[in-house]
Amino acid sequence: MAERSVLPRDLESSPPVEIRRLAYPDLPQVMAIERRVFPTPWSLAMFVLELSKPSGVCLAATVRGADGRQRLVGYLICSRYDTVWHVMNVAVDLDHQRRGLASALLAELYAQVEDPHARFTLEVRRSNSVAIRLYEREGFRAAGMRRRYYQDNGEDALVMWRTPATLAGSLEDVPNPGPV
Ligand SMILES: CC(C)(COP(=O)(O)OP(=O)(O)OC[C@H]1O[C@@H](n2cnc3c(N)ncnc32)[C@H](O)[C@@H]1OP(=O)(O)O)[C@@H](O)C(=O)NCCC(=O)NCCS
Repeated sequence: MAERSVLPRDLESSPPVEIRRLAYPDLPQVMAIERRVFPTPWSLAMFVLELSKPSGVCLAATVRGADGRQRLVGYLICSRYDTVWHVMNVAVDLDHQRRGLASALLAELYAQVEDPHARFTLEVRRSNSVAIRLYEREGFRAAGMRRRYYQDNGEDALVMWRTPATLAGSLEDVPNPGPV
């Protein structure tokens, strides 16, 4: 996969962000971000498992630091199950949030999937209003709930879908939509 450059939308003078495939050598930086941004971070083994799946899409967002070295500032993990793409993890490091990086990672995911009829789904904590707003902006719609899905605090998960129907304002191609 070729690297793509994306200019952070709020800082025209800042270095462009590159989106490329996530690789095993990135995992120490991924784990550092994971621990900074999530109350219950994924384990290293979970990332290794996702990277080992040949049909998944795992992406890295990097910026070049003042020392000239590329620094990982965000990542996205998506797994394919049959015809459905499951967005398993999206994170952007604290000092790079709100610059359009998560949106750029998602845009690259849609581009790589290369299917206008693709259906994407994900689970998100009900309390994570920032992520829910991001996904809604991306055309995901809440279409169900998993009660007490998160073991750390017993929080419910909102199940969201992005499909041709949700992009057109309905849930008609979402499997088993439920109350939210
Ligand atoms: C959720 C997360 C990935 C968003 O990354 P990001 O790069 O900051 O998101 P973007 O800059 O692409 O934002 C896109 C949209 O999301 C929403 N959004 C992002 N950050 C927001 C914030 N702090 N407050 C409100 N809305 C926000 C907005 O709608 C935003 O568009 P806008 O800036 O034009 O209003 C990031 O906040 C993060 O890593 N959070 C911790 C990990 C996490 O919760 N991941 C999701 C798990 S399901």
